[in-house]
Amino acid sequence: CGIVGYVGPGSTLDVLLGGLKRLEYRGYDSAGISVIDPEAGLQTRKRAGKLNVLVEDLSASPIKDAHIGIGHTRWATHGAPTDGNAHPHLGGAHQKLSLIHNGIIENFSELKAELLAQGTKFSSQTDSEVAAHLVAREFEETGDLTAAFRRVVNRLHGAFTLLCIHEDQPDLILAARRNSPLVIGLGDGENFLGSDVAAFVEHTKRAVSVGQDQIVELRRDSVLVTDFAGHPVEFEEFTVDWDASSASKGGWPSFMAKEIADQPQAVGDTLMGRIDSEGNVRLSEFEGLDQLADVTRIIITACGTAAYAGEVAKYAIEKWAKLPVSVELAHELRYRDPVLDSNTLVIAISQSGETMDTLMATRYAKERGSKVLSICNTQGATLARESDATIYTHAGPEVAVASTKAFTAQITAGLLVALALASLRQSLPKSELNELGLELLKLPRQVKQVLESLPRMRELGREYSQAKSVLFLGRNVGYPIAMEGALKLKELAYIHAEGFAAGELKHGPIALIESGQPVIVIVPSPKGPDSLHPKVVSNIQEIKARGAKVIAIAVEGDQEVSQYADEVFYTPDAHPFTVAVLAVIPLQTFALELASAKGLDVDQPRNLAKSVTVE
Ligand code: G6P
Repeated sequence: CGIVGYVGPGSTLDVLLGGLKRLEYRGYDSAGISVIDPEAGLQTRKRAGKLNVLVEDLSASPIKDAHIGIGHTRWATHGAPTDGNAHPHLGGAHQKLSLIHNGIIENFSELKAELLAQGTKFSSQTDSEVAAHLVAREFEETGDLTAAFRRVVNRLHGAFTLLCIHEDQPDLILAARRNSPLVIGLGDGENFLGSDVAAFVEHTKRAVSVGQDQIVELRRDSVLVTDFAGHPVEFEEFTVDWDASSASKGGWPSFMAKEIADQPQAVGDTLMGRIDSEGNVRLSEFEGLDQLADVTRIIITACGTAAYAGEVAKYAIEKWAKLPVSVELAHELRYRDPVLDSNTLVIAISQSGETMDTLMATRYAKERGSKVLSICNTQGATLARESDATIYTHAGPEVAVASTKAFTAQITAGLLVALALASLRQSLPKSELNELGLELLKLPRQVKQVLESLPRMRELGREYSQAKSVLFLGRNVGYPIAMEGALKLKELAYIHAEGFAAGELKHGPIALIESGQPVIVIVPSPKGPDSLHPKVVSNIQEIKARGAKVIAIAVEGDQEVSQYADEVFYTPDAHPFTVAVLAVIPLQTFALELASAKGLDVDQPRNLAKSVTVE
């Protein structure tokens, strides 16, 4: 879910709705706002459906603008996405309190039973409404809103970011955070709250990331952060380096189209300052990791697209830095008693830095003495706070739910980590390291070149808009790219798609091939003594013989493949690991065009949320 809060002289409705627009990727089942006007009192409006439904409702029957308010966009967990289950939830006999929540209150049924026994009437099925009634009840008893709020958050189990306002205290927003994200935006005579900095980056770049189990008392001119016992805690301000305009569509038909086009910059900014002109890679972030030289193995953990970036990083780290690496989905790693120790380096990859599964795996690894290095795209994110060191990808805000530029930036960062580790461990001769560093520096230009050659891929996406299933094949780093291509298609076009290791084909998946089955194959460069090109070409022949329609993604100069494939898309010929970055771009484009041709919302596919902050 996405959360935004504002107190200040500006238009609260504008700040809240603008913030929700930028946070909508966190969930779009329903949206709602509450504001307090000194005369009109607390006014709340909430609607099931995307944010637009709420916006249209508000323009059809406006509410009075105010100088304090909270807003929410929901990804449903407890209770269906209806108007009633939308946030904010009101509490108290006179419904003067309004509260929004992101997370899951695990002990809600016990608390609800207590309230029901006292005669409280509920108007939703959510766990969140319980918190609203509890705070309201405590406030009615004590007359101290902050104390009431503190008492309630101490009773809640699970994960929550809560924001709460009350008509009788129209200058104060209270917020609390446990296991769910919360960031403060510091303005001049105004202050903001958000699930992440995207909520307010348009208004201020000064931000504070709220720590675990902390409460914020936010007023126009003051910010007080305390722990759950009420003791003030110090906080550190940081400056958001995102350009606010990069979070807008800027003339593109969708955020996804724009973000695909942003990739030369995303990759370039991620490389910037990290490789010198001789090709030496330097990651100053490694300084946060003591005893890095003692690391004997690496576990990369992540979810979704980020895990596929991790798979590419694995091939590079093993080949260059000669360290054993495994990639584990975070939700699997956390609950299977993995062997972790102080010689294990855990690399957590997450665009948002808020994916609960990834956070939980990271915490678990730290508890077991492992060092955690994160690769993250969002400043002030919980993952970055909790890691020993963080390599930021500088992809800028990614709004479309399906990840594109964050993915290519994550691979880029993974390759940088692999080279930096190789340099530290002296596992490759310096000349080779430098050569590889210089190869990486070519990436932004090569990405640009790929973007210029996409028109045929767009046509193919449209031509295949009626496909029921598309298969993807690849070997080595082409394998995770195949899986990512399939994931894009599942996410965007809701059709069956699967990525296979091409070598695995004959062990089962080949049975799926029948006449007309589209198969996209990532074909490695034919150059080099270890090239897997002949093997992949044989795989193409095997599926062609069984009637498949083959679209090959190959490197420039590969004439052989064109004899067997129905279509070939050429990327620049480069190092096989950097070709992974190039090869995914036509796949992103294919999925985007195919889904658009089906008339689907590519930025906000059904059932998904960009940042899943529940387990
Ligand atoms: C969700 C999104 C995916 C994303 C994954 C990991 O499942 O729908 O697109 O890859 O989370 O997100 P993260 O922010 O941790 O990279």
